[in-house]
Amino acid sequence: MCGFTVTYQRFIKKNMNDRGRFGSKLGVVLASAGSAVGLGNIWRFPTEVGQNGGAAFILVYIVFVLFLALPVMVSEFVIGRSSGSNIVHAFRKLAPSKWWMTIGFMGVLGGFLVLSFYSVVAGWTMKYTVDAALHRISGTDPANAFDGFVTDTWEPLFYMGLFLLLTHLVVIKGIKGGIERYSKLMMPLLLLIIVILVGCSLSMPGSAEGIRFLLKPDFSKVTPHVVLSAMGQAFFSLSVGIGCLATYASYFDKDMNLAGSALNICAIDTLVAVISGFIIFPAVFSVEGVQADAGAGLVFITLPHVFSSAFSQIPLVGYVFSLLFYLLLLLAALTSSISMHEICTAFVSEHYNIARKYSATLVTLVYLVLGTACSLSFGPWKDCTLAGMTVFGWFDFATAMFIMPVGGIFISLFAGWCLKRKLLTDQLTNGGTLQVKGLRVLIFLIRWVAPLGVGMVFLNEVAKHFN
Ligand code: PFF
Repeated sequence: MCGFTVTYQRFIKKNMNDRGRFGSKLGVVLASAGSAVGLGNIWRFPTEVGQNGGAAFILVYIVFVLFLALPVMVSEFVIGRSSGSNIVHAFRKLAPSKWWMTIGFMGVLGGFLVLSFYSVVAGWTMKYTVDAALHRISGTDPANAFDGFVTDTWEPLFYMGLFLLLTHLVVIKGIKGGIERYSKLMMPLLLLIIVILVGCSLSMPGSAEGIRFLLKPDFSKVTPHVVLSAMGQAFFSLSVGIGCLATYASYFDKDMNLAGSALNICAIDTLVAVISGFIIFPAVFSVEGVQADAGAGLVFITLPHVFSSAFSQIPLVGYVFSLLFYLLLLLAALTSSISMHEICTAFVSEHYNIARKYSATLVTLVYLVLGTACSLSFGPWKDCTLAGMTVFGWFDFATAMFIMPVGGIFISLFAGWCLKRKLLTDQLTNGGTLQVKGLRVLIFLIRWVAPLGVGMVFLNEVAKHFN
């Protein structure tokens, strides 16, 4: 064995002992579901559904979740738990060649890029939560109010910084005392708010039209590009492709059921995404003349208008509805951002052998710099573009359309073909002590369907760009 490997293994052994662990199965499921359920479900999913054919988009999305994202998630779990390391060292430990570490590095880069633009939007939700609480959301001219806010230099930066600080405060407390503890608090609250809001929204006059809009498939809108964005959305929403869930799985116990947990997380995430549609569209359709395909402004422009018009007779209900809605977005964003932060914190801490609190601080500082660039892309830097895209646009595009699918292909190829078959089945069955229904189908999905499926959708889109 070469010197590097021996030193490396000693280092990992030393580090493994003080890495921390999740304390309970419920904690694992809530933290991982917390990573998955985020702005992707409540902000991005309804926006895409509204623009891309309603139920037709939902159908394509569900197929991608089951056949592509789920096997990649299981692969991440296997890689994470069997290595007990951050995503870069996981490949270093398990892979036959050091080249595989590139996939790990790409994941860490993805973790930096996603949270940088994510924290900007999360900052907006924080501002809207504060405004909702103080009765300050403009219902009369929401488009101008939103535009005025995001194009400003300092206010969005302030909220982005505040959001990153909250994320930092959770991550710095470690796995059990930070991520698990706060996920156990925030996730039940989030689910409770969803139930209240869906009840509220469905009881609004005109809600039937919103439901019809959501459930009526319009397949004419499902173009190849929409198919790629449905796949990007599935990966983004389930937090797969950049080693986020592999990092969480490195803190799992030996007796966690990996396949069962992955299935539960996919079910919770998809349910929350679809239910978010049931919260937003019935409300949107209750007001005449409001566009359901409003794009990214749906949540920050359309909904404030809806809140003020629909509840003009009963302002208290409008107040509670809007406050709960933005609080829901904020909570969802926070449970996801801590997981992205953790990919980078775990890597920096273990790679440079520095204490967790320093690595978390370093990572937060990098986020502040990158997040500032993303935030300014709406204001003073909005004309700094490359190929027509701002910094924010590039970070979003590079991760959802490139890093996550490419990461997904290699992660499933790695679990399916590079790991010893016995290690893979041992991880999935916990050394033969667990009966996993459909184990062979799952392994087939990991080895063939996920890499080929993601590869085909991805290459088709790349080829189109070069034509
Ligand atoms: N899944 C999160 C959402 O839907 O908002 C976003 C996300 C979290 C993406 C963690 C990537 C990640 F590693």
